[in-house]
Amino acid sequence: MTVVARPALYTMFARGLRRRGAAFRRVARRLPPANPAERLLPDPQRMARPLYAQVNLAALRANLARARAQAPGTQVLAVVKANAYGHGLARVLPALEDADGLALVEPEAAYDLRERRYTRRILMLEGFFAERELPEFAQRRLATVVHDMEQVRMLETAVLPRPLEVFVKVNTGMNRLGFRPSEVAAACTRLSSSPSVAALRLMMHFARADEDDGIAEPMKVFDGACRGLPYPRSLANSAGIFRFPEVGGDIVRPGIMLYGATPFAYDTADMLGLKPVMTLRSTLVGVQELKANESVGYGAAYTASRPHRVGVIACGYADGYPRHAPNGTPVLVCGRKVRMAGRPSMDMVTVDLTDVPEARVGSPVVLWGEGLPVDDVASAAATVGYELLCAVAPRVPFVTSEVGSVDLEL
Ligand SMILES: Cc1ncc(COP(=O)(O)O)c(C=O)c1O
Repeated sequence: MTVVARPALYTMFARGLRRRGAAFRRVARRLPPANPAERLLPDPQRMARPLYAQVNLAALRANLARARAQAPGTQVLAVVKANAYGHGLARVLPALEDADGLALVEPEAAYDLRERRYTRRILMLEGFFAERELPEFAQRRLATVVHDMEQVRMLETAVLPRPLEVFVKVNTGMNRLGFRPSEVAAACTRLSSSPSVAALRLMMHFARADEDDGIAEPMKVFDGACRGLPYPRSLANSAGIFRFPEVGGDIVRPGIMLYGATPFAYDTADMLGLKPVMTLRSTLVGVQELKANESVGYGAAYTASRPHRVGVIACGYADGYPRHAPNGTPVLVCGRKVRMAGRPSMDMVTVDLTDVPEARVGSPVVLWGEGLPVDDVASAAATVGYELLCAVAPRVPFVTSEVGSVDLEL
C-alpha cells in the first residue's frame, strides 16, 4: 500500500494557500480573526524548532456539545483549571461560549476571566484560601465551594459588597475536601442564615466514577447527607456524565472530556464520541542508520536486533513529553504508527522507522492528538491523558485553529 505522507500544517501554509484550491481557502478563511499572533499557523522561517501544539477549537465545541447531549436539562460548568488542562484558558474561551459557566481553582485565573468580560458563572472548585479573598470573590461574582466549618465561620463574619453563591461540598469517600455527611445539614443551616450567602447548592466529587462500582456508594452517602435539603445539586465530572442516567443532578462539571480524552481505562475517547483538541506536532530532525547491536540515546535503553533506521524527533521531556515513556510507546510519523526506540531525552525522542521507508528529515510527526489519542501515549507511559495535556512546557508554541489537519486536506 502506498502511503502519502501528510505535510505538516506549517509546511502546507509555507507552500502558500494558492496551490491548495478553493476548498482549502474556504477553510483557511474560517481561522479565528482574533489574536493575530496566533491566527496563522507557525511560520517555519520564524520558528526556532518545528515543535508546536495545535489547539482545535471546533473539536472543543463538539466535545462540549457531547457533554450537553449526554446530560440534557442540566447546566454545564466547563472545568478549565490548570489553564484549561494545559490548552490555554484565554485561547479556548471562544469555544466555551455554550457553557453555562466555568469552574477552576486558581483565583488569579478567575479574576482574569472577569477582566476579559466573561459574564457567566465562575465556580471556584477549592473555594477561598483566606478570609481576605472573600470581598474579591464577591466583587467579581465568583461562586465558591465551601468544604469546612472554618470557611463557614469566615463567611458568617465577613462583610461583603454582595452575597455569594455557595456550593457546599460533601465528602462522600474521596476524603480530600468536604463536610462529613453528619455535618452537612448544620453547615447549610448556618450558611442559609448568613447575609454573605445569596444561594446554596450541594455538590460532591466522585473518587471512582470511572469504575463500574464507583458510583453507587458515594451517591448513597450524598443522598443520605442531603436528605430534605432543597438545593440544586452538582455531582458529575466527565466519567459521571457518561453515566448520567444513574448520577442525575442539576449542574454537571465536565473536564477531561471537553479536551477529547477519556476518563475511563477501557472506553476510548473515540468510543465516547470525543475529538482530540490538542495535537502535539513536530518533525524528524535526524535519521540514523543503525547496525545490529548498536544502541540509541542515554543509557543505551534501546539496542537494535537488526539493521534499521531510527528517526530523531524534536520533542523531549523539557517540552512535557513523559521521560518514563518506554520503548514501544506509539508515535505517528508520516501518519503511520511507529514505536519509541530509546529513552526520551530533554529535547529529543527517537523512533524505529522500519515501517515508514519514506520518512526523512522534515517528515511530519504527531506525538499525540489527531490520529494518536493522548490516552494511548499516556497508558504506554503509565499515566493518564490529564497529566500529559497539563504538562506541555512553556517553551512549546501554541497554534489555534478552527479545524484539524484532516479538514484542511479536504
Ligand atoms: C471538583 C471537580 N469537579 C469536576 C472535575 C472534572 O473532572 P474530569 O476532568 O474528570 O471531568 C474536577 C477535576 O478534577 C474536579 O476537581
